Amino acid sequence: MQIHVTDQSGTRHTLEALEGFRVMEIIRDWGLNIKAECGGACACATCHVHVEPDWSAKLHPMRDDEEDMLDQAFDVRDNSRLSCQLLMSEDLDGLEVRLAPGTERDDQAAA
Ligand code: FES
Repeated sequence: MQIHVTDQSGTRHTLEALEGFRVMEIIRDWGLNIKAECGGACACATCHVHVEPDWSAKLHPMRDDEEDMLDQAFDVRDNSRLSCQLLMSEDLDGLEVRLAPGTERDDQAAA
């Protein structure tokens, strides 16, 4: 399976993805610039992604805690999700997301 991730500078990456991993973990483990400060506990919003609209409808609905945390993120849109709350499965093979502003690690913040 694969996911496609556009980083904060606009470069699109195609990443191999394993079932059961969080989308945030896939992005982080392939070395892309994602802060994911809380490690997936739905407590930081620094794993915020914009999901391509075609894919948005295929994702499971947001839980209240994800919605509450997203309220604190930058540039929140109708298609915003926290990537640590998206679990990779066959249904998401080909998922297309874009890293939202504010997700850069401090040591690699956009100049
Ligand atoms: S990694 Fe902190 S909310 Fe997703």
